[in-house]
Amino acid sequence: MGEITNVMEYEAIAKEKLPKMVFDYYASGAEDQWTLQENRNAFSRILFRPRILIDVSKIDMNTTVLGFKISMPIMIAPTAMQKMAHPEGEYATARAASAAGTIMTLSSWSTSSVEEVASTGPGIRFFQLYVYKDRNVVAQLVRRAERAGFKAIALTVDTPRLGRREADIKNRFTLPPFLTLKNFQGLDLGKMDEANDSGLAAYVAGQIDRSLSWKGVLTAEDARIAVQAGAAGIIVSNHGARQLDYVPATIMALEEVVKATQGRIPVFLDGGVRRGTDVFKALALGASGIFIGRPVVYSLAAEGEKGVRRVLEMLREEFELAMALSGCRSLKEITRDHIVTEWDASLPRPVPRL
Ligand code: FNR
Repeated sequence: MGEITNVMEYEAIAKEKLPKMVFDYYASGAEDQWTLQENRNAFSRILFRPRILIDVSKIDMNTTVLGFKISMPIMIAPTAMQKMAHPEGEYATARAASAAGTIMTLSSWSTSSVEEVASTGPGIRFFQLYVYKDRNVVAQLVRRAERAGFKAIALTVDTPRLGRREADIKNRFTLPPFLTLKNFQGLDLGKMDEANDSGLAAYVAGQIDRSLSWKGVLTAEDARIAVQAGAAGIIVSNHGARQLDYVPATIMALEEVVKATQGRIPVFLDGGVRRGTDVFKALALGASGIFIGRPVVYSLAAEGEKGVRRVLEMLREEFELAMALSGCRSLKEITRDHIVTEWDASLPRPVPRL
């Protein structure tokens, strides 16, 4: 294996290393996987309008998210069951995030508990919450996360039911018996039974509340409701294209949500971010930061903590270079004018006077 030079190269390594059931669970999207491809493809419809001859000898990527200082606008999205990728699972991810000075979001369905992840040492961490039918379970979990020092709850609202991930159905996907959903151990909700289709889909159908009625944010309508409901921020996400197929790529939904929030709360994005230029494009369209999902589980599978560190480093370096080459020295210098999108062409544009 030659030197790894970009984040995407970890996917092939993970595919080789992992059991098929596990790799397929990480990789797949819903149904035709149209949105899965689109999450990547849409970035190629955005081009740069770089500014030149600007002194870029110093680049500052520091930022603040919900009041917490981090070293770059690149954070870790919640992905479930990381010990299937590597024995250190969420521990390794937590350490890599801390080392990079950024935020890790822990999944409700992690294979390490909130307390265990907290025990890895200091770090700014968010907790992703699935709302169970049993609200006592939910309340207890939120209290535990708070006590363990987690700083925010990322409420996932696009999963009243699990999307149809056909590979999981074919593989009869279930959590391997030597692992547990650690946050639910002792509550009798830590194990996943085998089903005659996806074991995870059956688990969701049994335990997750289908009646939650608000954010799932890909639209201006829901963004406004989220602001009114007092959300501290919004993550524009299509769950890594694993829920409703044929929703737009998140990078194409972003601007609508940003406009609807009118600057009242920060908007973040995840979905298909694999390059520093992708990070730049998201910020130019109004995001305050991005999160990455699959690159974390793939690099974890390949090299454990070292792999996740390397992913964060590569994205950081690429993003820094994208800033320098487009003439931006700090995040606030990244503007809408630094990019042009395919959909801009359909709008009337000012004619430059030369
Ligand atoms: C996810 N995602 C997710 N989201 C969530 O709220 N709770 C979860 O437990 C999970 N689990 C999960 C597992 C795997 C394997 C994937 C790929 C995704 C969605 C995740 O937070 C994020 O939205 C996407 O992963 C972002 O897209 P990319 O970076 O994977 O393209």
